[in-house]
Amino acid sequence: MPTPFKLAPLPWDEDTLAPVISANTISLHYHKHHQSYVDTLNKLVDGSNYADMTLEEVVQKTAASGEAKDKQIFNNAAQTWNHDFYWRSLTPFKTKPGAQLDSAIAAAFGTKDALIVQLAEAGKTQFGSGWAWLVSKGGKLSIEKTPDAETPMAKGTNCLLAVDVWEHAYYLDYQNARPKYLAAVLSKILNWDFAAENLNKEEHAVRAAAE
Ligand SMILES: [Fe+2]
Repeated sequence: MPTPFKLAPLPWDEDTLAPVISANTISLHYHKHHQSYVDTLNKLVDGSNYADMTLEEVVQKTAASGEAKDKQIFNNAAQTWNHDFYWRSLTPFKTKPGAQLDSAIAAAFGTKDALIVQLAEAGKTQFGSGWAWLVSKGGKLSIEKTPDAETPMAKGTNCLLAVDVWEHAYYLDYQNARPKYLAAVLSKILNWDFAAENLNKEEHAVRAAAE
């Protein structure tokens, strides 16, 4: 029997991101959408080699495959991972980047406000469903956007923050006004501690590889 992939718990109570994101949106998004990616993934990988891999391995292996079944597995595995990463990218608490991330932000964007403008633009201009990302490559920060379930992690890129721009992430609260959702999320509930932790992990990995 394979170990089924699990729906990771939310890092905060469902109503704590309101009014930026309502409890109703979080509840549907987490218990219906996210849960359904996890359930579908478990059905698809049951009895296959993928059932014994980590979620990251499943995403990276299926991303590189041209098989239709693998594409289905990729979509559900990547959405499982992306959503878990998105929840942890958000917080009701005041957080700050800290010294290391601050200097990486200054080098890449000048200011945190300039970063936020670029991240909002990526989210706004992602045509249809997808994601906006703050990523780091060797400590150098940049903004990416991906369609559907695509994720920079599939190619081994270190992700620092993710913002879901699928309609299910904002439609109940903002209807079609994706830029309003982005403006509220990016200015009020991004988890800079989480971003700083992710950058720090990469620095440790680079140092360990060099030793
Ligand atoms: Fe979503």
